[in-house]
Amino acid sequence: MNKALRKAVIAGNWKMNKTPSEAKALLNEIAPLVKDADCEVVACVPYVDITTAVEAVKGTNIKIGAENAHWEEKGAFTGEISTGMLKEVGVEYVVLGHSERRQYFGETDETVNKRTKAVLKAGLKPIVCVGELLWERECNITEEVIARQIKLDFFDVTAEDMKNVVIAYEPVWAIGTGKTATADQAEEVCAFIRETLAKLYSKEVADGVTIQYGGSMNDANAAELLSKEDVDGGLIGGASLVAEKFAAIVKAASV
Ligand code: 13P
Repeated sequence: MNKALRKAVIAGNWKMNKTPSEAKALLNEIAPLVKDADCEVVACVPYVDITTAVEAVKGTNIKIGAENAHWEEKGAFTGEISTGMLKEVGVEYVVLGHSERRQYFGETDETVNKRTKAVLKAGLKPIVCVGELLWERECNITEEVIARQIKLDFFDVTAEDMKNVVIAYEPVWAIGTGKTATADQAEEVCAFIRETLAKLYSKEVADGVTIQYGGSMNDANAAELLSKEDVDGGLIGGASLVAEKFAAIVKAASV
């Protein structure tokens, strides 16, 4: 298996942006621009936008994702959302372990692992984010950090379930900073993630996993990043909020 056989996934991570009416307007703008995409197109939106978003993309090739999910099906977890709730409203993908959740909301590899298993069990597709801090890169421990995250985040996840997993490599220093990893830096870590998966599972499993790059990816740098052998897509923040920019990235992944 090689890059050509993996599914490219371009996903917008809208973060805490867009009200339901704004979400509808943006998706209506994006839909005609990406209708001929030769890759999976996903918009991961705030919880309250989901119902409107699912309705807005009916009859299009855009899939809707959430930005987190809890590991329990129900219970006393104020402020949390379960996989069952997300499924019922038409969600297909769920972003997990984003660095903003790790940095600001106490997310750990242990909780990312629990969420990942719950999302897979529900038949949803997790987009599991990993990435090093600038300090960690400067200390030359990027590979240790990434290997640790992959081992812990996927602990007890079966080879069969790995077929439904997307991994996003998002160097924390490149998120929202305008500082993109070079295509070579992105490839180096994405290839390392694949090697790690090959050791944990098998080459066949590793070759089948879609690995995205995320961090200031935009219409100008997407083509070069996506041309790399182990970069199978993108998780896009800021540029996913501008229809033409997001569509240009989708186009870059569709060649
Ligand atoms: P930016 O594209 O705004 O840097 O955000 C990347 C990101 O965090 C996507 O999850």
